[in-house]
Amino acid sequence: MLRMSIKRVGIVGSGIMGSGIAETAAVSGFEVVLRSRTQASADATVAGMEKSLNRQVDKGKLAEADRDAALARVIPVSDLGELAGCDLVIESVVEDLAVKKHLFSELDRICPDSTILATNTSTLPVVEMAMETGRPDRVCGIHFFNPAPVMALVEVVRPLTASDATMATAVAFAEACGKTAVVVKDQAGFIVNALLFPYLNNAVRLLESGVGTSEGIDDAMKGGCGFPMGPFALLDLVGLDTSLAILDALYEEFRDPSYAAVPLLRRMVSAEQLGRKSGRGFYDYSKR
Ligand code: 3HC
Repeated sequence: MLRMSIKRVGIVGSGIMGSGIAETAAVSGFEVVLRSRTQASADATVAGMEKSLNRQVDKGKLAEADRDAALARVIPVSDLGELAGCDLVIESVVEDLAVKKHLFSELDRICPDSTILATNTSTLPVVEMAMETGRPDRVCGIHFFNPAPVMALVEVVRPLTASDATMATAVAFAEACGKTAVVVKDQAGFIVNALLFPYLNNAVRLLESGVGTSEGIDDAMKGGCGFPMGPFALLDLVGLDTSLAILDALYEEFRDPSYAAVPLLRRMVSAEQLGRKSGRGFYDYSKR
């Protein structure tokens, strides 16, 4: 089985995950083409990356020269056509299958046949994106966790269509980023979110039924289970809109009641209380 060598990685989408993946890949020595819908937001993402790397330098975890080298490897762009020279493209745009399918057909048109196209989706069927392209054997999932520079795991998702060489290349890329790669079947939630989201959803149910406050439930799960964050701090970190989309996709696939989103979560998304990114979720971040 031939494994491709990856030098230049394209990242589409500059949200929390896209920028975290770009930072991880750049620090790991890959050239990164970071594509956002506007040049201003692509540039702002690189500025955010610089801040994040500066924190690592201040903590003595990264040499200044390595920070500068990592930043020099990142090219912020707004034109999708700039991804033509990439060996691997990972998309991390909104969790909307129609949007992702359209993006895959565009990437298929732009990138040479040898380029591997990957999605960072956490729940959507990878095979449906693969079938939008003329290279379904060279499409897979590469699912990072939030915050991408810190979390040790990458789920490498195998749709029915992927070749062994594509999977081996994706695993090698994740490992070159310093991550543990676990290969998973292409079904909603893969491993982590299929187990994590019923727990997060049930935490909202407990809050709704008045068993405890968000602070109380978070303290209980940190102190009682040794989790680094309680469920409400984690929901706010992941984003309530993303969390709701994940639960809806899980429910759609399995029709299992443990995946049916609790009404409070849906109402908070309607109220644009999305967590850290909107300044308010289960906690208030506006004054932090
Ligand atoms: N970028 C780079 N480094 C970061 C970072 C970031 N965004 N955020 C935190 N760090 C680093 C810090 O520099 C620090 O490193 P050090 O200890 O070597 O100095 C380390 O991570 C710990 O950070 P802090 O001391 O600031 O804070 P905490 O100790 O509270 O850790 C946390 C923060 C790493 C986020 C930790 O609370 C944690 O692991 N939480 C659980 C996160 C989790 O479960 N993520 C998975 C979510 S599910 C998902 O992503 C799937 C998706 O499909 C939805």
